[in-house]
Amino acid sequence: MKTTLSVIKADVGSIGGHIKPSARLKTTVENHVRENGKKLLIDCYVSTTGDDIAILMSHERGVNDPKIHELAWDSFMAGTKVAKEQGLYGAGQDLLKDAFSGNVRGLGPASCEMEFEERPNEPFLFFAADKTDPGAYNLPLYLGFLDPMHCAGLLLSPKMSQGFTFTIMDVNHTEGDRVIELNAPEELYDIACLLRDNERFVVESVRSRANNDIAAVVSTSRLHNIAGTYTGKDDPVALVRTQGNFPATGEVLSPYRIAHYVAGTMRGSHHGPLMPVKLNSTISFFDGPPIVSCAAFSVSHGRFTEPVDAFDHPFWDWVRNNAAQKAAEIRNQGFSGPAMLPYSELEYGGVVEKMNKLDKRFIVRKDKEAAGNGRKRKAA
Ligand code: F6R
Ligand code: MG
Ligand code: MG
Repeated sequence: MKTTLSVIKADVGSIGGHIKPSARLKTTVENHVRENGKKLLIDCYVSTTGDDIAILMSHERGVNDPKIHELAWDSFMAGTKVAKEQGLYGAGQDLLKDAFSGNVRGLGPASCEMEFEERPNEPFLFFAADKTDPGAYNLPLYLGFLDPMHCAGLLLSPKMSQGFTFTIMDVNHTEGDRVIELNAPEELYDIACLLRDNERFVVESVRSRANNDIAAVVSTSRLHNIAGTYTGKDDPVALVRTQGNFPATGEVLSPYRIAHYVAGTMRGSHHGPLMPVKLNSTISFFDGPPIVSCAAFSVSHGRFTEPVDAFDHPFWDWVRNNAAQKAAEIRNQGFSGPAMLPYSELEYGGVVEKMNKLDKRFIVRKDKEAAGNGRKRKAA
């Protein structure tokens, strides 16, 4: 039997700004999925990370199944109704289109899915990030799968020495999916060359080269590319299978101790450290910092165990302290240089508008002598 895991997530409203969806909203979404998914799903798990709700589903219908996508869409619509009733902030924010049309891709919600033959024991990790975009997973996936400094298995496990294939998407190309497949270790530097640009090139999936088995998938949607304007950050989700031919769970988690700087946080327009948080955490300082949660599962015949909170351990408290320090450090320089995102990535139009206005007031000096004092010289 082949099992499909599908995660579909959206921000359809939250309490007190962008902090956390209400309990009633979450319950409404969950009840809708469970009630209407009885004939479609084997199992499901509904969780929140910051202001987002994610629906993790197992089934046998394969990836991109219209009925599964419709179930998630309708559940978020039902949630939106409650969000509006409760006066939640950003009610229905990520549902960019009025009607469902076969697949949530391009409609606002983020999704990632994988189909595989279950191994006798099948551990996997479900990551959900808030206040950032899909490129946030680039570095952790690169390090967790390809760098023996984090993934000792590349040296120690004969199964892993054949390496991995990375499929990388150019998310700026909106006319269709522009992707490239690169093989590690021989194309390691090419992979790094693309993945350094988190806003444009995003890991879509990772496969084992030992047996071509799917190892990881990431949601690649960029809301500002879909909507053409600010609608919130993309808040990506990812699924990673672990152990056996794949990195161990601890190897996949290892790079998150860096709390590397990613795009996002306040108004989706700054850099902040990616803080690994406990499940169901909220958003706080400077509408951030960007957060990532990780629920570890085992699955058998599509049935999930209870989730284990992978970042709920004293070690990660130390990481969170470091991340807080990194957040404060970059905030010390406010809007200056790398603290704020470059022009093309700003999620609000204010700077662009100001620049257009100021542009008209710039002058090019004609008189060489006038240079240096900022004022025109009086004619002699
Ligand atoms: C970032 C985010 C928040 C908002 C900010 C202003 O993804 O959602 O930082 O951008 O709270 O919110 P608005 O513009 O909706 O009042
Ligand atoms: Mg939001
Ligand atoms: Mg969000």
